[in-house]
Amino acid sequence: MLPRHVAIIMDGNGRWAEGRGTDRTLGHTQGAEAVRQVVRHARKRGLEVLTLFAFSSLNWGRPTDEVAALMHLLEEFLVEEEQELIDNDIRLVAIGERAFLPRSVRDLLTRVEQRTAHCAGMRLVLAVSYDGRRDMVEAIRRLTDMARRGELLPADVHEPLLLEHLSTGDLPDVDLLIRTSGEKRLSGFLPIEACYAELVFVDTLWPDFQTTDLDEAMLEYARRERRFGLTGAQVCVPA
Ligand code: FPP
Repeated sequence: MLPRHVAIIMDGNGRWAEGRGTDRTLGHTQGAEAVRQVVRHARKRGLEVLTLFAFSSLNWGRPTDEVAALMHLLEEFLVEEEQELIDNDIRLVAIGERAFLPRSVRDLLTRVEQRTAHCAGMRLVLAVSYDGRRDMVEAIRRLTDMARRGELLPADVHEPLLLEHLSTGDLPDVDLLIRTSGEKRLSGFLPIEACYAELVFVDTLWPDFQTTDLDEAMLEYARRERRFGLTGAQVCVPA
C-alpha cells in the first residue's frame, strides 16, 4: 500500500561535502538538487503529502555563512520551482517559526503558498525553522487563548482538537518517515504527527538520495504490517 504522507529528514549534506574535501555549502547545493528530483518523483508516485525537514530551529546555531547559504538555497528553490509546482499541481505549505526567517524568504514562502493554493495533486510541506516541541507549545497557546476568551472548557480538550491546532492540523498523520545518512534520531521532527509512522533509516547521504531510494523505502513500508495496537490476526485481511 502507498503511504499517504511521507516525511524526510534530509541528513548528510555536510558529510557529503567534507568527504569530497569541499565546502559544506556545496553539500547543501547538491542536497537541493536531490529535493527537486524527490518532489517530482513523489508527485509521479501519487503521494498525497511530502514533508521535508529543510531547516530545524536548532540549525540557527550553525556558522553564519552556512545559515546564509541555506536561506539562499531556499530562496532559489522557491523562485525556480514556483512554476514547476503549479504545472504539476503541487501545493506548497511551510511550517515552522516563520517570524525568524529573513524577510525575503518569508515573502517568497507566502507568495508560493498563495500561488499554489489551488493545487490539489500533492502537498509539499517545507519545515523551516521547525521544532516539534515548539509547534506543540504554539498549539497549546492557541487553546489556552480560546479558554481565556471563554470559548473552550477543560473538558472540551481532546486529542483531535490538539492535533487540529498544530501547524500540520489539516494533514494526515505521517505514514512513513525516512532519515538519510545512517543517523537514527527524530531530532524534533513531527513528534506527534509521526508517532505511528513506520521509520526507515538509510545510510545514503542526502545529496546521493535517488528516486529509486524513495521507491525502496516505500516498498519497505508496504512490506511492514501496521497493527496500531491490534494483533496480527486482527489486521490480516482475508483474501
Ligand atoms: C542536514 O545535513 C541538512 C540540513 C541541515 C539542511 C537541508 C537542506 C537541504 C537539503 C537543501 C535546501 C533545502 C531546500 C528545500 C531547497 P547536515 O548539514 O546536518 O549534514 P551532516 O550531518 O553531514 O553535517
